Amino acid sequence: MGVNTPTITDIKALEIIDNRGRPTIRARVYTEGGYCGRADVPCGSSTGSYEAFDLRDGDSRYSGRGVHRAIANIHDVLRPALLDEEVTNQRRLDHLMVELDGTPNKSRLGGNAILAVSMAAAQAAAAALDMPLYRYLSGDGHVLAVPQACLINGGLHAGNDLDAQEFCVMPVGSPTMAEATRLVCEVFDTLKGLLENRHGKLSTNFGEDGGFAPPLRTSREAMDLLCEAVEKTGYAKDVVYGLDIAATPLYDVAAGTYRFDGRQRTPDEMIAAMQDLVREYPLIVSIEDPIQQDDLNGWKAVVDSLPGVLIVGDDLTATNVERLRLAIGAGAMNALLCKVNQIGTVTEAMDAARFAQRHTCPVVMSVRSGETEDDILSDISVALNAGVFKIGGPHGSDRGANFNRFLEIEAELGPVARYAGRDYARLA
Ligand code: PGA
Ligand code: ZN
Repeated sequence: MGVNTPTITDIKALEIIDNRGRPTIRARVYTEGGYCGRADVPCGSSTGSYEAFDLRDGDSRYSGRGVHRAIANIHDVLRPALLDEEVTNQRRLDHLMVELDGTPNKSRLGGNAILAVSMAAAQAAAAALDMPLYRYLSGDGHVLAVPQACLINGGLHAGNDLDAQEFCVMPVGSPTMAEATRLVCEVFDTLKGLLENRHGKLSTNFGEDGGFAPPLRTSREAMDLLCEAVEKTGYAKDVVYGLDIAATPLYDVAAGTYRFDGRQRTPDEMIAAMQDLVREYPLIVSIEDPIQQDDLNGWKAVVDSLPGVLIVGDDLTATNVERLRLAIGAGAMNALLCKVNQIGTVTEAMDAARFAQRHTCPVVMSVRSGETEDDILSDISVALNAGVFKIGGPHGSDRGANFNRFLEIEAELGPVARYAGRDYARLA
């Protein structure tokens, strides 16, 4: 081996469980010199139809969600193809896997199988070079993204009647990631007390995003509680708000209407509802998936009518450069949600993020609702100098993992570290 170009000596994958008790893949990539990288694959609930294919067994185990077939593809197809390849050539490794799969959405081998190996290879390369992953992925990574912390969960992430999926705080006024983390946790604690007093103990149960899932009905009720918790904790000047409407599952294709905040709405009424929310809560600076993924005109109307607000493409763009090109060309969004498993390789996810940044679309890195203790996304966020990171609430080690990795990176970077703060949208 060349000193800096160790080759892959083995790849092993295992079925593990995520934070919801659902199976997912853990892969290890081994290299010459005895190095190893490990990665776990995240998984969503509100998945858009443009995402890479998540290969599941469909048999009696785990309600059909087993990943034995995907793991067999890793061992039988990806491993033989990647053995003896240089581990530090991430783009080539990812390209080889995409070629081997041969389908537009990775449906032959599984986006989950390919991503597991892609991320584990990146970790192995960083280990072999004795570098932190964010440094290996980019020489220039130094920005700690504003954590967009989902403290109230609704939609598919909660057993309540809130239609919108996520109500989040963004601590833009904090000076550092450490202080931003403290703010999020203190507000979370205050919110718990408020919920208990107003709605009883049951209202402090958790949703799938590590925030509370209280028995609220409307976005206003959720925003009022969130704002009250922020004010009561003493951070009114430091916090702005982000929503994920996750409108695609709220849309009834046959009727052509959305179920939102207690009633059915036409697309025009949905657009008006977004405008009303921003009018009533001017500190809402970001709205994700306000409109279903195929209505580009509807998206454009939201972008045009809410200047200064990030209109974030998630299901719309699925971290896919082609979808992104379409959406940006149509003026249908102005910020990209970047989820690595929507596209299925580290290279393609970073390409999508950089494409967005080149088109002055800020990048919001994002976890999925299904996560493990893996903290790789924080490193990718820093490597991209992303301005925002949608991180969930601070409940559970699956959510804590990314907060804690950010804290570690901030400490490691020392004076070079820059917390995105109020520049979260200017880092494109
Ligand atoms: P998901 O939700 O991970 O369940 O898809 C996150 C999101 O919609 O942003
Ligand atoms: Zn979303």
